[in-house]
Amino acid sequence: MLSTVLSATLHGVEGRLVEVEVHVSSGLPSFTVVGLPDAAVRESRDRVRAAVLSTGLKWPAQRITVNLAPSSLRKTGAGLDLAVAIGVLTAVGALAGGEVAGTGFIGELGLDGSLRSAPGIVPMVSALGTKRVVVPLGCVPEARLLSSRVCGARTLSEVVDAVRGRRDWPAPPPPATLVSRAQPDLADVRGQLVGRRALEVAAAGGHHLLLVGPPGSGKTMLATRLPGLLPPLERSEALEVTRIYSAAGLSVPGGALATDPPLRAPHHGATEVSVLGGGTACLRPGELSLAHCGVLFLDELAEFSVAVLDALRQPLEEGVVRVRRARSAVDLPARILLVGAMNPCPCGEGAMRGACRCTDHSRARYQRRLSAPLLDRFDLAVPLCRPDVGDLLGAPCGEPSAKVAERVRLARAAAVVRGVRVNAELPVTTLRQECPLSAGATALLERRLRSGTLSARGLHRVWRVARTVADLEDPGQPLTERHVAEALALRAARETLILS
Ligand SMILES: Nc1ncnc2c1ncn2[C@@H]1O[C@H](COP(=O)(O)OP(=O)(O)OP(=O)(O)O)[C@@H](O)[C@H]1O
Ligand SMILES: [Mg+2]
Repeated sequence: MLSTVLSATLHGVEGRLVEVEVHVSSGLPSFTVVGLPDAAVRESRDRVRAAVLSTGLKWPAQRITVNLAPSSLRKTGAGLDLAVAIGVLTAVGALAGGEVAGTGFIGELGLDGSLRSAPGIVPMVSALGTKRVVVPLGCVPEARLLSSRVCGARTLSEVVDAVRGRRDWPAPPPPATLVSRAQPDLADVRGQLVGRRALEVAAAGGHHLLLVGPPGSGKTMLATRLPGLLPPLERSEALEVTRIYSAAGLSVPGGALATDPPLRAPHHGATEVSVLGGGTACLRPGELSLAHCGVLFLDELAEFSVAVLDALRQPLEEGVVRVRRARSAVDLPARILLVGAMNPCPCGEGAMRGACRCTDHSRARYQRRLSAPLLDRFDLAVPLCRPDVGDLLGAPCGEPSAKVAERVRLARAAAVVRGVRVNAELPVTTLRQECPLSAGATALLERRLRSGTLSARGLHRVWRVARTVADLEDPGQPLTERHVAEALALRAARETLILS
């Protein structure tokens, strides 16, 4: 009276294979689940029993033990319900072992026997490799992104009948057609030449961008237009992004593949776990991972907790969040383009405008929230002013996103030739060998280094940005003083924040 059924559980953004072993023996009726189940998995006992009875099948009045192997791995969520039910039915002989062998079962059961979706269908199906997988009917389109051997059902009784060969698997809904979301267009932004330029350079070179300006200067407006300048996701990126969203329980409706670079903008009250990912019960992806291959926009940057801001430093450097817990460890993907926006001081007006009501002390305390190491991660930091009245009312519309995106595409192609994805990732050796500086550019950098307004780390960052500036014009041209001067100007706000 022993059966083994395959299923999967979620670990971070990856699925892990789980063998559900069910043993039914004589003794006082009981139902025990062992093998590091979390609360949701332990509660499956009640759901599974009710679902089997609602389906009209007999529930064994015997001693039932369910072991979830490997027992060292924590099992999370209700996605194991279906496998446990099939395991019990196989152990008591209602289903033949041969009928379920080599098939994975994933899904949550309702008390009436209905089969419900569980977070992480996409990574869990991929954990089962080439095996046949049974999932809730509505999840079939997204599950088929990774495996062609996917069947779906609406209820436990449909699964039992189809496994026994008494009926065909129900036809799944058609996959959703891939429709790109309408993105806000850069043409709506009037004037703001410096802000627009910084946005273009950030998109082309993958440089993190900080926008500093008073309320209403268009910081949010500019930042939300950045994803529209990035190229669409490649298939491998799209699959990765879809997998992360599935793991977070945020699948694209209809099971379509994500095609647009994501934009995530968490509120400044967000906790460390919600931004970075992790958690005690199950290791979930955070906002950093949800922005993977896209843009993470931290509006009101200085209002985020210091713990969150400091914790950003490592993922920004490595492109992964390394979550470590006493019992488990997981690496969550987080290759993002960071855009921060902030007011120059607590009242928002900034020292320059003369309207600022802040004391020196309160201004210094506000700016100290951003540590120098975090500010160092921003290759671009531009001050913004409120838009000019003439620009707002009279000027013709700015250049549309599509035109800028085309220049960005060409500049990114140049980075690929140098062996990196974007210029921000250029190693120092490649920078020296393949992006030499002209005599004028070297002299300019030397002056800044000697005056102490540029650090060693800043030097290479300016160098990379200068390369992106040059690439946007012509990837073949050498780096001149003009490009370096623009790169230095595009980080002007950074110096103001550090020095004031
Ligand atoms: N350059 C501009 N061109 C057209 N409209 C603009 C421009 N700048 C600002 N606006 C208008 O002002 C509104 C406010 O801009 P936005 O929310 O981006 O400002 P903000 O700098 O983020 O302000 P806050 O600091 O309060 O968050 C926009 O929704 C838009 O209608
Ligand atoms: Mg704003």
